[in-house]
Amino acid sequence: MNNFRFHVYTDVRFGKGQVECLEELIAPFGRNVLMVYGGGSIKKNGLYDKVKTLLAGYNVFELGGVEPNPKITSVREGVAICKKEQIDVVLAVGGGSTIDASKAIAGGACYDGDPWDLVVDSSKIGKVLPIVTILTLAATGSEMNKNAVISNMETNEKLGTSSHYFKPQASICDPEYLYSLPAKQTAAGTADIMSHIFEQYFQKESGAYISDRFAESLLKACIKYCPIALQEPDNYEARANLMWASTQALNGLLSSGKGGAWTCHPIEHELSAYYDVTHGEGLAIVTPRWMRHILSDSTVEKFAEYGRNVWDIQEEDVYKCANMAIDATEQFFKDCGIPMTLREIGIDDSKIDLMAEDTIKYNNLDQAYVALNKEDVAQILRDSL
Ligand code: NZQ
Ligand code: ZN
Repeated sequence: MNNFRFHVYTDVRFGKGQVECLEELIAPFGRNVLMVYGGGSIKKNGLYDKVKTLLAGYNVFELGGVEPNPKITSVREGVAICKKEQIDVVLAVGGGSTIDASKAIAGGACYDGDPWDLVVDSSKIGKVLPIVTILTLAATGSEMNKNAVISNMETNEKLGTSSHYFKPQASICDPEYLYSLPAKQTAAGTADIMSHIFEQYFQKESGAYISDRFAESLLKACIKYCPIALQEPDNYEARANLMWASTQALNGLLSSGKGGAWTCHPIEHELSAYYDVTHGEGLAIVTPRWMRHILSDSTVEKFAEYGRNVWDIQEEDVYKCANMAIDATEQFFKDCGIPMTLREIGIDDSKIDLMAEDTIKYNNLDQAYVALNKEDVAQILRDSL
């Protein structure tokens, strides 16, 4: 098991009605609040009004309209408000895009240059404004982690940045806020959670037994509860387990004692950078193709372990077991209603070489579970068409 640091200070308030804690969580940081939200889902489900009521005694400034795959232009707008209004705390109300934009805004507010600098070079992230979140989509884990992913459509770049300071001070996670999610987002969110787990589970270090068993239990939760949430959007047990799975999947727990570069996320980020696709859908499409591409004598035992422990496959031939597990993964995404080819989400073969080149340029795929070069990535993308 590798050395690791596990230090997450986010105060998580999980469950029904936890939004009532909002004022208590905001109060220590000051009176001037920047409330950041997306395209309007929180106005439709009543959360916007609830927050305004709970913070009636505060100076609440607003930045609405943050896009999925949040853009640097929205971040710049938020930074300008923070600087002009002397904001004390950034309150993100929404999914990963809103939370990630809020992190970049909180960093940009304490930085003299263009906030895009902080995306390109995380070492420039120093002090940031405190961040509090109210999560409305189970997917990214942004509610309890140090990452922010921001897009610049002028340059076709979607880049992740990361800082210990970006971890939210507090996050309210009420599964009832997931009831209004469209099926598409429930499914894509689950694929994202599962991909985060795969990225950490399929790594070279094999001695991190605890992390791997946690990973398998979270995968089983996704497989059990996503179909239920799709059938019954207001099933509390299903929503609660998916929500907690998303938080645990990417807060440092599963990578404890492990390490190495990720693969499907870097590839998906290029799909989003060029075509602005839904993150979880891009991941679901690429994942089984990546798994088949890297299946070999050196990885087959791990894939068979995944098949036995997650899918309960009782097959002694390791290759058969591994292939059955990969097929089950692909079928699961399909059954959740996710389009499973790039063409279905509007991507043809015209930019494959460009996207493969950028995947290698911006990421260290030579340090992934199985090292990939540009040709490998291009092949995985072609297999995904
Ligand atoms: O914008 P609104 O109107 O709120 O609608 C959103 C949006 O259209 C909607 N939605 C969210 N909660 C809802 C809801 N609709 C109805 N009811 C609700 N309760 O869902 C749509 C997607 O929202 P978004 O925030 O974009 O989704 P998600 O949480 O999947 O975030 C995706 C972004 O996070 C990045 C992705 O790359 C992408 O940019 N990631 C962030 C990570 C992190 N911070 O650690 C890691 C991930 O791997 C990922 O890269
Ligand atoms: Zn993701």
